[in-house]
Amino acid sequence: MKFNQSNIKKAKKYLDKNKCVAVPTETVYGLAGNARSSIAVKKIFSLKNRPKTNPLIVHYSSLLKLKKDCVLNDNFFKLYKKFCPGPITFILKLKKNSKISKIVTNRGKTLAIRFPKHKILNKLLNRLDYPLAAPSANISSRLSSVKKTDVEEEFGNKVAYILDGGKSKIGIESTIISLINIPKILRLGGLEVDKIEKILDQKIKIDINPQKKLAPGQSKIHYSPGIPLRVNVTKPKKNEAFVLVKKRKTISRHYYYLSKKNKLNEAAKNLYSCLRKIKNNGYKSIAVEKISNLGIGKSINDRLKRASKF
Ligand code: TXA
Ligand code: MG
Repeated sequence: MKFNQSNIKKAKKYLDKNKCVAVPTETVYGLAGNARSSIAVKKIFSLKNRPKTNPLIVHYSSLLKLKKDCVLNDNFFKLYKKFCPGPITFILKLKKNSKISKIVTNRGKTLAIRFPKHKILNKLLNRLDYPLAAPSANISSRLSSVKKTDVEEEFGNKVAYILDGGKSKIGIESTIISLINIPKILRLGGLEVDKIEKILDQKIKIDINPQKKLAPGQSKIHYSPGIPLRVNVTKPKKNEAFVLVKKRKTISRHYYYLSKKNKLNEAAKNLYSCLRKIKNNGYKSIAVEKISNLGIGKSINDRLKRASKF
């Protein structure tokens, strides 16, 4: 996807006026607003119908800008060097004099931040005087958007502008790691946990279903296509859409392949758009075959399990 200066200018114009703009990232599209403006941030919550207790991720394009808002530690620097920009979100201590709107964090003392890897978004971020608060561009608890038309489907014409950046390359949200005390994974996502463990040289606790909820990505019902979904299915019911990764010998119009070559990365990339397509094709329920729980397969299975709680 080539970028277009005039589109970036347009996005900036709306954001400078405290409007919400949908932006592309390598994981999923975000619904962005000026993170320092309570007016803009309130709009994000209201458009998404998001509970105000669910804090937002703030997106940066430079370490220098981040330093104004967060206390950085050794673990952060190690992971930053290796993986940023990329599909990892850090929970860090918020500085007292940070200008981030208190609504972003629901008055909390920590901030979720990330450095997205997307050429067009980074061009935009570099031009702005403020970082962007951006949750995934979908109505709360629904499927995230991975392309412009998904955002349109979610919000109609309620979003001031959609900055088109093509289809998101990774297709599922960032991995969230808290670096407040000992490192802890709060959401499985686009970056595999074993890669993080290698860099920090330690086994990391995975806390994605805690009693006391920190991240609604942790909430049991989430990422829902809006129709019932079953996982680990060997035989679909009549008229049920069947989502597959591995190639079958039989052919059926109800089969929906996530990958052409049995590749998990490709499956992650196509997951949300495939579920959206099935819903839009009028199916009443979805069956998904068992998907390997290796690498990014873990994140795919996490999303499917939550989607199946509908
Ligand atoms: O890939 C992504 O992370 C995408 C793109 C747009 O960057 N964003 C995204 O945002 O997935 P959202 O709002 O859909 O999910 C952010 C998650 C939520 O589950 C929220 O609860 C959690 O991050 N979160 C935000 N601030 C937090 C904090 N201070 N402590 C713990 N969890 C936090
Ligand atoms: Mg989300």
